[in-house]
Amino acid sequence: MKIIIVGASGTMGKYLTSAFKKEHEIVRVGSKSGDVQVDITSPEEIENFFKQVGPFDALISTAGPTFVGPWKKMTDKEFRKGVEGKMMGQINLVLIGQHYINPKGSFTLITGSLTHEPQLNFANASAANGAVEGFVRAAAIELGNGIRINAVSPTVIEDSPQYFPYFPGEIPTTMKQLEYGFRKSVFGANTGQVIKP
Ligand SMILES: NC(=O)c1ccc[n+]([C@@H]2O[C@H](COP(=O)([O-])OP(=O)(O)OC[C@H]3O[C@@H](n4cnc5c(N)ncnc54)[C@H](OP(=O)(O)O)[C@@H]3O)[C@@H](O)[C@H]2O)c1
Repeated sequence: MKIIIVGASGTMGKYLTSAFKKEHEIVRVGSKSGDVQVDITSPEEIENFFKQVGPFDALISTAGPTFVGPWKKMTDKEFRKGVEGKMMGQINLVLIGQHYINPKGSFTLITGSLTHEPQLNFANASAANGAVEGFVRAAAIELGNGIRINAVSPTVIEDSPQYFPYFPGEIPTTMKQLEYGFRKSVFGANTGQVIKP
């Protein structure tokens, strides 16, 4: 399979790239890193990106920039980081990418447990996650040609110990659990699901 991983240089993306690269052709993507660069906040860059990469079988996104910080500093400007990044960035990967993906292909987007279990400082991610999960359910009944779409929604992950203090009482998602959540979406038959690894 030709699998695009947007966010391949990040904590999740690096792990998934190394897990899938033995059996699949991986296109590693980031705004400043990877084989091909695209800033997902720009629809024009996304269109050019898909033209450059050509047809593909699966797209995984682990790129979802959001504002993390105290509630009192959360203004319209800060909030738009998640709206234009994690929300519209990922939505545009699908709205534009649907014209380039092979029949029976799949999209897998990243959300997170903050959708339903808020933590202090993360309101921007909670809101963006909720929007992406609503989009995934709607897109699943719109996409043609057997194309599937799911979201993977972990809690704080094992390889991000810097976030543990912000998630008191949460047992971190292991990297293996995360990988198998993505495997379920990319290689399974489900669509419109929010997969909690
Ligand atoms: N880490 C956790 O514990 C955890 C738990 C649940 C959910 N999540 C969510 O999972 C996602 C990924 O987390 P992570 O910890 O793997 O993040 P990360 O280590 O910060 O990596 C982010 C990746 O996204 C790329 N990226 C960032 N902005 C981009 C843009 N505008 N256009 C294209 N690529 C962009 C980065 O590459 P460049 O630098 O080259 O742009 C990098 O490869 C986030 O949305 C986060 O909210 C994380």
